[in-house]
Amino acid sequence: MKNKIDSFKKYKDEYKKSVQNPELFWKKQADQFSWEKKWDAVLKWDFNKADVKWFEGGKLNITTNCIDRHLNKNANKTAIKWIPNNTKEDIININYSQLHKQVCKFSNVLKKNNIKIGDRVCIYMPMVPELVIAVLACARIGAIHSVVFAGFSATSLKDRINDASCSLLITSDGGFRGNKIIPLKNISDEAMKETPSIKKCIVLKRTKTTVNMHKDRDVWWHEEMLGASENFNAKTMDSEDPLFILYTSGSTGKPKGILHTIAGYMVYTAYTFKNVFQYDNEDIYWCTADIGWITGHSYVIYGPLLNAATSVMFEGVPSYPHQGRFWEIIEKEKINIFYTAPTAIRALQAKGTKFVTPFDLKSLKVLGTVGEPINDDAWKWYNKHVGNNMCPIVDSWWQTETGGIMISNLAGVTPSRATYATLPLPGIQPCIVDNKGNEINDSNTKGNLCIKFPWPSIARTIYGDHIRFKDTYFKKFKNKYFTGDGALKDKDGMYKITGRVDDVIIVSGHNLGTAEIESAINQHKNICESAVVEFPHKIKGNGIYAFVISRELPKNLDQQKKEINNLISSNIGPIAKADKIQFVEGLPKTRSGKIMRRILRKIASGKTHSLGDTSTLLDSSIVDKIKSNRE
Ligand code: WTA
Repeated sequence: MKNKIDSFKKYKDEYKKSVQNPELFWKKQADQFSWEKKWDAVLKWDFNKADVKWFEGGKLNITTNCIDRHLNKNANKTAIKWIPNNTKEDIININYSQLHKQVCKFSNVLKKNNIKIGDRVCIYMPMVPELVIAVLACARIGAIHSVVFAGFSATSLKDRINDASCSLLITSDGGFRGNKIIPLKNISDEAMKETPSIKKCIVLKRTKTTVNMHKDRDVWWHEEMLGASENFNAKTMDSEDPLFILYTSGSTGKPKGILHTIAGYMVYTAYTFKNVFQYDNEDIYWCTADIGWITGHSYVIYGPLLNAATSVMFEGVPSYPHQGRFWEIIEKEKINIFYTAPTAIRALQAKGTKFVTPFDLKSLKVLGTVGEPINDDAWKWYNKHVGNNMCPIVDSWWQTETGGIMISNLAGVTPSRATYATLPLPGIQPCIVDNKGNEINDSNTKGNLCIKFPWPSIARTIYGDHIRFKDTYFKKFKNKYFTGDGALKDKDGMYKITGRVDDVIIVSGHNLGTAEIESAINQHKNICESAVVEFPHKIKGNGIYAFVISRELPKNLDQQKKEINNLISSNIGPIAKADKIQFVEGLPKTRSGKIMRRILRKIASGKTHSLGDTSTLLDSSIVDKIKSNRE
């Protein structure tokens, strides 16, 4: 990609142009890619119908742009540098030419297994190179990938497979995470008991754990790849054909299958990767996110590969085999750009600098954070002990639904400010509105963060439920995309994200819907109702506090709490477990029966002296009882 913004003035000019003539602006970006046919129209949109189309009529394949386009100049350049969980195992460098061969081979495997354009393929894998190969092969053949984070339970996996009627599941015998082995095939088997759409399951051998192979359904990755051809002509796709589905939690109901389409996502992830991180050709870039999340999709796979970058992929966890693993990798691999989550920074900060100082981090040029607001303390620690006060920290705000980074400083180009995501990227027109939808222009006044104009990688729908898509994002504020986040702007127009304004809780950077957790808890035979809220947590950002009403007061409280958490774990995954569970007689409800979570949040956070107006409560004595028995 050309068009690197390299000074604050250039940013301001570029921003101005992008707002004055968005179509021209994005056309110029799109022109840099390889198209089989250019588009008929750059943009068509109607937020009232939740309808956005970019580069309609264009024909292309995203993998041609991620791989084939680089084979002339960069065939031998490392595309994926894979670092295994176990330090004794070898690092694998896959160059662009090898990646091309592997993706072609696996595309042929998909074809042999009857996968066609538009089919949904579920991928439930550990962080191994084959995960990237599987994702790209789906894109090459025109199938829609739906990656499910390998920390999710069998129930979550089953629900996601069924929601998108996936016909193929790609998994592995197991996954290494620190000193644990996650039995991914066993979990998949459990899920596949109730997934009628699944016809085939391709299993990668990673941990060499013994697994059951279901005759007719299950095949081994390595056996399928034997003899598969290294050539596969990428399918010609339309700009607006679906590229992938990725599930994210909502305030109500089941997770939403966010759908992204090909061309807009391609143009935007490539542009933002280059500009936010100020990526230079020889840089070694490492994003620690799991590919099971949007950050992994956009900034481990697509954004870097579209820029012919070297993207580091790490199988393990920051604490294994020691608390300095991240810093050791940065030293050994001479990482230049490092992108991680505030929760990881806080966890490592808590272990002390003695795990950082032994390592030489001089290769670092740019640091990044994503996923939740970063607190001042963690920002300063990251800046001083990791960045040696020399590296700009990009605090990048965005969402699964936005596809790419929306508000962020550009490394070393636009100013950074601790705890502020700062300025919108070119092409992004945010605003803050009050609850009635009026734009707030006063500085330092909190409101709802919205976006006024479409950008290329905006989600196109919720798979199978366009009405929910429209209602969730475009109904509350007319003619605007509503993010679900709160924000304020300072006098310089810099944005600070203040957190979710809906019933989504971000725990260690993972979005969790309170409704999902409550419905898991309510499955317990002794629980008749529950309400889940967040409370500030030193490492995780937010902890989960569950208020539960039991039919009978349990004889063994601890045992019952354990059972509740086991239910959460098996329905969603261990990440959603409650940190605190309080048995209560009743919940604070309004006369119309709505739980007043505002009050529960205050109690959970220990701010019991200022509960605010409780006059609309049906029974306010309940609040005192809950308060006095706080966990
Ligand atoms: C939050 C992750 C503050 C926000 C890319 C958003 C952030 C949600 C930041 C999306 C940030 C993400 N500062 N908050 N830099 N980045 N968030 O879909 O609440 O997993 O709505 O996408 O994370 O989470 P998601």
